[in-house]
Amino acid sequence: MVAQEEDPDLRFPIVNDDLGYPVMVGDGLRDRIVAFARTFGAPVVVACDDNAHVRRLAEAIAKPLRLKQDAVVTVALGESRKRLATVERVLDGLCAAGADRHTLLLGVGGGVASDTFGFAAATYMRGIAYAHVATSLVAMVDASIGGKTGVNLPGGKNLAGVFKDPVAVFCEVPALQTLPFRSLREGLAEVVKAAIIEGEELFDALETLSPHSFGRWPWTTVIAAAVKVKSAIVADDRQEAGIREVLNLGHTFAHAIERASAFRVAHGAAVAIGLRGAGLLALRTGRFSERDHFRVLGLLALLGLPLRTALEADAIFAAMSADKKRRGGKLRFVLPRAIGDVEYGVECSERAVRSVLARLQRAPEAVRR
Ligand SMILES: NC(=O)c1ccc[n+]([C@@H]2O[C@H](COP(=O)([O-])OP(=O)(O)OC[C@H]3O[C@@H](n4cnc5c(N)ncnc54)[C@H](O)[C@@H]3O)[C@@H](O)[C@H]2O)c1
Ligand SMILES: [Zn+2]
Repeated sequence: MVAQEEDPDLRFPIVNDDLGYPVMVGDGLRDRIVAFARTFGAPVVVACDDNAHVRRLAEAIAKPLRLKQDAVVTVALGESRKRLATVERVLDGLCAAGADRHTLLLGVGGGVASDTFGFAAATYMRGIAYAHVATSLVAMVDASIGGKTGVNLPGGKNLAGVFKDPVAVFCEVPALQTLPFRSLREGLAEVVKAAIIEGEELFDALETLSPHSFGRWPWTTVIAAAVKVKSAIVADDRQEAGIREVLNLGHTFAHAIERASAFRVAHGAAVAIGLRGAGLLALRTGRFSERDHFRVLGLLALLGLPLRTALEADAIFAAMSADKKRRGGKLRFVLPRAIGDVEYGVECSERAVRSVLARLQRAPEAVRR
């Protein structure tokens, strides 16, 4: 698949039924969002990230719905504001807008918005309906799907939250045009993760697209494919009792790198390094072939994602150990066995992990097949 026109079948929104709520991916979804909000038959409150581009989209949705001014709640977000104080501001906004148990909260924004607004919807009057308009790549392929909502506490990321399924998710693909290039690229780390889980089809497509500029990518097709991977897994394990763990591929390393860097390394960048780490650990424990490992590294490198970290191995290991305490005292990993075959709950020795962390400080073992 080379850069090409969008697949004609996917030019229009796709509806994913695996989860019991629609996930629509497309271009020009505004009218559908408005129609959905009208047919939902409930008073609507819109909550949006105060980023100028996101606000413009939220206003374009609010206008035809003829919402009163106080029914559009705008809050400053960002990872450092993903906290309870921000949830409180949204709850106050809902209250000021006269929201009741039948209100639909329509959130607009990236992954910080879906986590924060979804959590607010889950708690306002013990839970009101929530729909999300995803405006970042991370929100489209990952954060807004699957019902995990929550905020950070001073003690760690995503420590306060609940499972709250949305009633609908809209991935408004043209919104990506204003997304900072860095955020787009970092979001791709999660798409590569989905491709390693899913297997050849999505992985091959990403390999073919990777030399081309992002402007030429058939984004609707790529996002729809990644949404399908996540939806299918989440549908089988809504509360993360087992198989959903596979979505944490690369994340034991990534979370530790984020923490050890005091969150200066962005999540997507940490996931890319974490995917290399998981591959190395899988190689070391005889699960993964060099050929597949190098394919993953080659793809990440072509997408311009980082593969090494300047952080000390000891600092990353300490951050991993802190996380381990919260997970029943075991250091567990999700490791690839092949592209398209991922194993979760793998316990690895401290020695193996430390040796991989030392490798992550050095240039990648190879970036070409
Ligand atoms: N709940 C889950 O299952 C899940 C899964 C993955 C990630 N997450 C969470 O998602 C968050 C990361 O999401 P993110 O990367 O979208 O971060 P984000 O929401 O902070 O968005 C990144 C930046 O892009 C801006 N932005 C968003 N859409 C834009 C647009 N269309 N045009 C211009 N700017 C835009 C935002 O204002 C922000 O500055 C993390 O907090 C992570 O924990 C949650
Ligand atoms: Zn992630």
